[in-house]
Amino acid sequence: MSDSINQSSSIAPSAPNVAPHVIVLGNEKGGAGKTTVAMHVVAALLEAGKSVGTLDLDVRQRSFSRYMANRQMWVGRRDMQMPEHIALEAGTDNRLDVRQQEESDSFVRALGHLRANHDFVVIDCPGSDSYLSRLGHASADTLITPMNESFVDVDLLATLDPNTLEVAGPSIYAEMVWSCRQARVQANGAAIDWVVLRNRTSHIHAKNRKRVETTLDALASRLAFRQIEGLSERVVFREMFPAGLTLLDLTSEEANASLTMSHVAARAEVKALLSALNLPGLFGGGDA
Ligand SMILES: Nc1ncnc2c1ncn2[C@@H]1O[C@H](COP(=O)(O)OP(=O)(O)OP(=O)(O)O)[C@@H](O)[C@H]1O
Ligand SMILES: [Mg+2]
Repeated sequence: MSDSINQSSSIAPSAPNVAPHVIVLGNEKGGAGKTTVAMHVVAALLEAGKSVGTLDLDVRQRSFSRYMANRQMWVGRRDMQMPEHIALEAGTDNRLDVRQQEESDSFVRALGHLRANHDFVVIDCPGSDSYLSRLGHASADTLITPMNESFVDVDLLATLDPNTLEVAGPSIYAEMVWSCRQARVQANGAAIDWVVLRNRTSHIHAKNRKRVETTLDALASRLAFRQIEGLSERVVFREMFPAGLTLLDLTSEEANASLTMSHVAARAEVKALLSALNLPGLFGGGDA
């Protein structure tokens, strides 16, 4: 485990959930929006008064950790809640089995620590298969898979018949999620709520959107995921990354000064997303 555990100085004083809830952002498609959605889910949970631990399993890119480091710079300078963040590192041993054991040990230690101290743990996975990513997926209570409205992204979930666009079979990723689900049910009877979230939606390509939607509807029952509306394509979802902020973190003065209609709509999207996740202890969701 890296040393980058930022002990939060201002964790919200909310009662912990009965059991901490683990939210994993995962898919094996680079750039679909995992880190962006993770940042906004974390900000929304903090705003709702929950204490949050965060875990970065993307040992190469570390975008989630950079965002958290940027966010950490505000501590003491503005009234803003922080999650407690841990960035894991890749194992270093040349032998695969030893390396995986190293990674498994640091993962179990980190997740155990965050689960013991927070209501929610939000885990950001890399956009490719890795041992750490599999460990993350297997620990999910809620697995969020962001995808863009494109058949390139649908390909992440299933192979399609090129002529009819009918589902020919699950993708390697969908099979990996399936085996994580099976393992979890066998281990402790717990289910993974798999949520496919559409990201960067736009109304411009309505025809393509409809075709993708039809395919996703067919896939949803076959692979047992549910679909929720995610985030539209908006500059405001990416422009505050270097500041370590999201639009939910703006003070009311800042918000009054700078909120455009787009900002207002963006805030509503993030709140709707959090509600649609049906998390325990929020909006009457889940079982806490
Ligand atoms: N809803 C959105 N509106 C505008 N830009 C977005 C939106 N979602 C993501 N982006 C931008 O798309 C790019 C990819 O997003 P992000 O880094 O969150 O994806 P990722 O799935 O984490 O990628 P990777 O697999 O490489 O980790 C970034 O430049 C991000 O700012
Ligand atoms: Mg990412």
